[in-house]
Amino acid sequence: MNVSTHNPTRVAIIGTGNVGATFAYALMLSGLAAEIVLIDVNKSKAQGEAMDLNHAVPLAHPTRIWSGTYEDCAGAVLTVVTAGAAQKPGETRLDLVQRNTAIFRSIIPEIVKYNPDGLILIATNPVDILTYVSWKLSGLPKKRVIGSGTILDTARFRYLLSEHFDVDPRSVHAYIVGEHGDSEVPVWSLANIAGMRLPMFCAANGMSCQDDALDHIFQQTRDAAYEIIERKGSTYYAIGTGLVRIAEAIIRDQSTVLSISSYIEDYYGIDDVYISLPTIVDRGGAERTLRLELSNEEIAGLQNSAKVLKEIISQLNL
Ligand code: 2OP
Repeated sequence: MNVSTHNPTRVAIIGTGNVGATFAYALMLSGLAAEIVLIDVNKSKAQGEAMDLNHAVPLAHPTRIWSGTYEDCAGAVLTVVTAGAAQKPGETRLDLVQRNTAIFRSIIPEIVKYNPDGLILIATNPVDILTYVSWKLSGLPKKRVIGSGTILDTARFRYLLSEHFDVDPRSVHAYIVGEHGDSEVPVWSLANIAGMRLPMFCAANGMSCQDDALDHIFQQTRDAAYEIIERKGSTYYAIGTGLVRIAEAIIRDQSTVLSISSYIEDYYGIDDVYISLPTIVDRGGAERTLRLELSNEEIAGLQNSAKVLKEIISQLNL
């Protein structure tokens, strides 16, 4: 083998809690990565996860999986950070900011030390703020530091709309933008099925598009994590799958439009913050944020979301 051209697709995962481990499992099943390295302060947990995953490999995709150290981030196309404290019942994502910023101050420089050329994808909450923190701490170009953002909320929204309209969720085109959290915004004005805006789809199909039914769908979307955390302690299948979808767009250079958190400037007066908007994602990371034509209400919602996040960032001493 010509060693200089031997470059297996490596994905590093920092944090092997529920989200990190579920992502590793879904990534292994996807066959997208040749190598998956698991890194956790709790070495024994990372080792246990690697063993369990390796025992699935003969039944799934050939993948080299091991528990490693930050040195193993070298050469990774993507490093996904899931480490940090998670919400307890009743806590908001924003309540985690101090604890997780402190943790990130030790994680991010280590990643960049060994891997100055890869992409970093943040999943830890509050994700938009921690992605901003990671960008600052890393010194990497903006487009190579991204957050999972509202990929999850958009998926929840499309699922709930698909149930309401009785169509495949993949045929529902609708986005949640802004903060991944309480101030997020549904883009109703552009939501469509087969290019038909929802009022038109309803009229053509004899269905209900009552405001209160649609409001309820958004509330369920926004509050889904609280509901799940109350029942089972944490959320991980949908975010794990969302992380694989982002990894796929990167590894396969797909230029997919995904609602991820990226650095925003000059967008309806919003500057210098990470929030989610439909973004073209490819091998280089967040290639371009799409400039949506939003309604006045949606613009105000997005601006409010940015304000909430910027206020917290300004208190962080970065
Ligand atoms: C979620 O929305 C808790 O951010 C996590 O599921």
